[in-house]
Amino acid sequence: MKNDIAVIILAAGKSTRMRSDLPKVLHKLCARPMLGYVLDLVASLKPKQVAAVLGFKQELVRKIIPKGVKIAIQRKLIGTAEAVKSGLSALKGFKGTVLVLYGDAPLLKKETLKKLLDYHIKNDADATLLTAQLNKPAGYGRVIRDKYFSICGIVEEKDADEVEKDIKEINTGIMAFKKESLENNLKYIRPNNRKKEYYLTDIIGILAKKGFLVEAVKADDPQEVLGINTGVELSGANFIMQKRINEKFMQEGVTIVDPATAFISFGTKIGQGTVIYPFTVIERDVKIGKRCSVGPFAHLRESVRLGNEVTAGNFIEMVRARIGAKTFVKHFSYIGDSTLGASVNIGAGTVTANFDGLKKNYTIIKDKVNIGSDTVIVAPARIGRSATTGAGSVVTKNVPDNTVVAGVPARTLRKKR
Ligand code: UD1
Ligand code: MG
Repeated sequence: MKNDIAVIILAAGKSTRMRSDLPKVLHKLCARPMLGYVLDLVASLKPKQVAAVLGFKQELVRKIIPKGVKIAIQRKLIGTAEAVKSGLSALKGFKGTVLVLYGDAPLLKKETLKKLLDYHIKNDADATLLTAQLNKPAGYGRVIRDKYFSICGIVEEKDADEVEKDIKEINTGIMAFKKESLENNLKYIRPNNRKKEYYLTDIIGILAKKGFLVEAVKADDPQEVLGINTGVELSGANFIMQKRINEKFMQEGVTIVDPATAFISFGTKIGQGTVIYPFTVIERDVKIGKRCSVGPFAHLRESVRLGNEVTAGNFIEMVRARIGAKTFVKHFSYIGDSTLGASVNIGAGTVTANFDGLKKNYTIIKDKVNIGSDTVIVAPARIGRSATTGAGSVVTKNVPDNTVVAGVPARTLRKKR
């Protein structure tokens, strides 16, 4: 059917310009591989079929490919045209529109793709490009138009002459095709360029020359179509993604005092009424309840859960920790591999010594415990309900409920009534 859509995601390339051993598409924005964002976007379009083209270190990349997405392997990494060929071979029995996306453009939004697809289908085009107008187009392929403003081709930066380099309309790499127009013309692409690669972009000139209908849609926001090729571009895209994540939280009722210094990973959950103070770093898999107070200078590492109304204050590091409601961890503490109950007060400078040199050990602190300042809890340890530790204690044994301990190593002083 003409309106059916299949997507090919190109993700086979190396990481040459990133100067990295890791495939480019696995480099992260806000703690998530960039390809993850593209895969989500594709799923939101609900296409009939999806093929991800993998090549360089495909065994690493395939780990993040969800079920239902076909994996096509590009054996020879000789350019984007070859990659599309591999992708097409995975789209068995499909007829309709083929959308080509690049795995290194993670900021793209659904509305923009919809606009491209609607225009492509409405005009019954053979190919429709998503283009963008950039003040600094360096690095991108330039869109060549004739005197009637019809598209006649794309020229890559490396192959462009001075006049072409001045063109500000760029190829975003995102293209929609009539499947048979794509399939039947890929074979005419030749590696006649500086890199000696088979460029998908050459198909536009080939189609235009043969009289096929080539159209273009311009992206409203050029930021969205940023292709990431270098570490500098990665950090630029990370900044934009972080801004999006932070703004979404603010719209949902989270206060972020200084969005420029709130580094919150993709997938973090934060409840309404929580305040994030400046210089806070939140890594992956963190859930924060309602009306909490986090930071300034807090580092919540992976698998932290804060209940409602928790304070995780200044200079706190937490990792693999569950903190019960209304518990205070206010000043310079390390809480790792721990479960804290509700209404616990952790004094300044408390450390859970979780690592014995070989393995991580667990700390349990029950409800209403009072940990004195500068306590070191040598895990494994369990501090019973309503127990207290004196300032400077080094706890090496379990502490029963309602008991006060102090000293180095900590000994029982008395039972509470
Ligand atoms: C490409 C476009 C350029 C466009 C820019 C937009 C070509 C020839 N050029 O350039 O016009 O302005 O994107 O960001 O397409 N890949 C494969 N197999 C390969 C080579 C690449 O799967 O053999 C994948 C890469 O993993 C990447 C994508 O294709 O996700 C684009 O490749 P990249 O090398 O980044 O192309 P650009 O130089 O950015
Ligand atoms: Mg690129």
